[in-house]
Order: sequence, then structure tokens, then C-alpha cells
Amino acid sequence: MYRSPLVVASVATMFLLQLCYGEKASLEKGADAWNLCEQIILKMGYPCQNYTVETGDGFLLGLYRMPYGFNEQLRDNSWSRPPVFLQHGLLQGGDNWVLNNPDESLAYILADAGFDVWIGNIRGTRWSHGHISLNTRDKNYWDWSIDELAAYDLPAMLEFVYKSTGRKTFYVGHSQGTIIGFAAFTQDRVGDFVAAAALLSPITYLNHINCAFCNIAAHYYVERMVKTMGIREFNLRNELGVELVDRVCASPKVDCENLLASITGANCCFNSTRIPYYTQYEPHSTSLKNLAHLAQMVRQGTFEMYDYGKLGNLLRYFRFSPPAYDLSKIPKSLPIWMSWGGNDALADPVDVAHTMEELPSKPELVYVEDYGHIDFILSTRAKADVYDSLVAFFRAQLGNVHADT
Ligand SMILES: *[C@@H]1O[C@H](CO)[C@@H](O)[C@H](O)[C@H]1NC(C)=O
Ligand SMILES: *[C@@H]1O[C@H](CO)[C@@H](O)[C@H](O)[C@H]1NC(C)=O
Repeated sequence: MYRSPLVVASVATMFLLQLCYGEKASLEKGADAWNLCEQIILKMGYPCQNYTVETGDGFLLGLYRMPYGFNEQLRDNSWSRPPVFLQHGLLQGGDNWVLNNPDESLAYILADAGFDVWIGNIRGTRWSHGHISLNTRDKNYWDWSIDELAAYDLPAMLEFVYKSTGRKTFYVGHSQGTIIGFAAFTQDRVGDFVAAAALLSPITYLNHINCAFCNIAAHYYVERMVKTMGIREFNLRNELGVELVDRVCASPKVDCENLLASITGANCCFNSTRIPYYTQYEPHSTSLKNLAHLAQMVRQGTFEMYDYGKLGNLLRYFRFSPPAYDLSKIPKSLPIWMSWGGNDALADPVDVAHTMEELPSKPELVYVEDYGHIDFILSTRAKADVYDSLVAFFRAQLGNVHADT
């Protein structure tokens, strides 16, 4: 049952309540408040550069780069490192790859292992830079879902990395970063920018998620909120987020005493003393329409584009139902590595198996029995459990990074 923030003890609950009800991040004022380099990476002693990438529909994304590791120098221009691009998940931003100590966080580990690390940020996150003409109070600023992330944001950032380095990049996605990766790889041109993909908590089908909170939200509330409130910004800390949590937690089926665990599955390996640090930066905003799209996937068990209703679909897609993302179109030549957890409520083993059946290639797999959804980002043991294997996979694919032409 739902309890007030005051009576709660567990680490997972503290984390979630901080996310929902905590103070707004007390970041320093000025332009640097929205600069991931200035806020975290440079302070850790790593090199960092920031770029702005414009999407085909006018969003200005924040792309950040760690061209080499701690205390290293680029020795000369002819020797360049293989690029790797990191794509965060839902309600998260590029900070989630640099939140733990350097020997625990994937971005630092990759930079120190000799990679040229690029950190992507989708529209709506703190580290991106708005839109050429819209501002956050405009309804159209929030009129998007994973379809636009896969069609605009990922191709724009991946093409930027490709053009900047002259090489194909290694792709790393977590959670929603895997959904939009899978969707984008079914499009012809995106495969041209990517040498291999490593997917943490891989998600395409969502109908077996073991998350009472998500199921109740998806079946009863999210759709209704879109109908009554329209296209809006969603953040766990804004009034919409708090309302959704309060409504879903009113159901006796949801254990809101362990809310984070109810949503993500029990995470084994958090560092509880770092929670106040994480919640300075997380969560980031997404759109209510994006949640509605994910809710559609949970309800219908499909990996399809946004459902605008029969008439809307006809106008947009020239058919009554939304088109599916066809995983069999992902090039067999794209090497894929995936890692998922036994306690991950969102990337359920049945759904992961469904994804694998439809992929033309046979991915390399790493299963971690006691991992929940967020352990893949924040576990203090992630290097030994997951990242060492990911780095070895990329090293074995180095022959693929040279551009075809
Ligand atoms: C990098 O960030 C600073 C603010 O910290 C900003 O003034 C500058 O325009 C950014 N550069 C690019 C290319 O986005
Ligand atoms: C946990 O977080 C604290 C505070 O940031 C840090 O000093 C410590 O090194 C972390 N412990 C582990 C095992 O990562």
C-alpha cells in the first residue's frame, strides 16, 4: 500500500520517492547547468566536448564526447580510436553512464579501454538544447513518441558521429535505448552508421512485463490521461507524474512500499549512499504521448508504431492499423550482443526470447541472474558482471568500424 514519504525505509522506495517528490535539482545557474561535460565529466578529470545536433524535425540534441581516457592525450591525429555511442533509457539522460565511480560507470570504462565515447541525449532531456522554433510550453514540443526518436533522433546523432569520425560506431543502448535502436536498425540507412550493437535490458515486446505498476498504468490510466490532458510533458516530478503514481498506488495490487522494485524488478547492487547524487540529475522528462505508446505496446503485445485510431492511421499510414517494426529487416551482418537480468521486470525472459526468435542473426548473450532493470546502469559490480564482456565483444568486432566507402 502507498505510504507517505515519511514512513518509508527501503532503499528502492527512497530512490523512487526522491525521484517523484524530491527537491528539484539544485544545479548551478547559467548555461553550464545544462551541460553534461561541465556538470559531471570534467569534474571527474576526464576530457569532454559538447555538440549540438539538429534533427530533421528541428530538435537540438545534446551530444557529448569523451575522446580519450583519464589523464591521456590524443597522441596524433592519424591514430584514432573506435567510436562508441551510448543511448540512455526512458526518463533518463546521458548522465546515467557517468553517475558511479569511474571504475564502475560504462562511459569512463570505455574511454579508459581506448574507445572514443559519444553520449547521446534524446529530445526533452536536460542535456539537450530545445528546438529551433518551439519552446517547452508549446504542445508540439511534446508531440512525439519512440517513433520520432527512432526516425529522427538516433539517425541524426549516429550520422553526426559517423561524419565526425569517418567511421562506423559501436552502439550501446539501455531499455528505451534498445527499443529505438531496434526500430532504427530496421531502417536501411541507419545500419550504415553502426558497426555492432550491445543492448542492455533489450526490449521490443512488452506484453510479459512483470510489473503490476506498469500494467495497471497501461491498462487504466495513461490512455485516459492523454485523452483528458492532451499532449504534455511528463516527468515523475511534475504534477502529471505525481498524479499517475498516486492513482496507480491507490490499487491494492501494487506494492508501493517497494515502488522502484515494483517497476524495475529488485535491483541487487545499488550504492544507497549515492541516491541523493543520482536524483540531482534524474529523472529527465519525456512526453505523455511516449508513455501512451509504451502503454499501447504493453496492452497489445505488439512492436508497432503509434496507434492514431482507424481514421488517424489511414491518414498517416494509409492503412487502418499501425505498421509493425519488422525485426527480420535488421541486417544479419550487424553483430549483436545482449545482456538481461533474472530480476528485470521490464525485459522479461519471455519477451526477450520473442525478440531473439525474430532477429535474423544469433546474438551473443550475457544473463545476470540477480540483476534488475537499473543494475545494468548503476550496479557497483557491473564492470565484472556485464561491461568486461561488452568491451570484449566490441574488441572482437574492430574490423567492422571502417566505413564501407
Ligand atoms: C557547449 O556548451 C556551452 C555551455 O556550457 C555552450 O555555450 C556552447 O554553445 C555549447 N557548444 C555546442 C556546440 O553546443
Ligand atoms: C558509494 O558511494 C560513495 C559516495 O559517493 C562512494 O564514496 C563510494 O566509493 C561508493 N561505493 C562503491 C562500492 O561504489
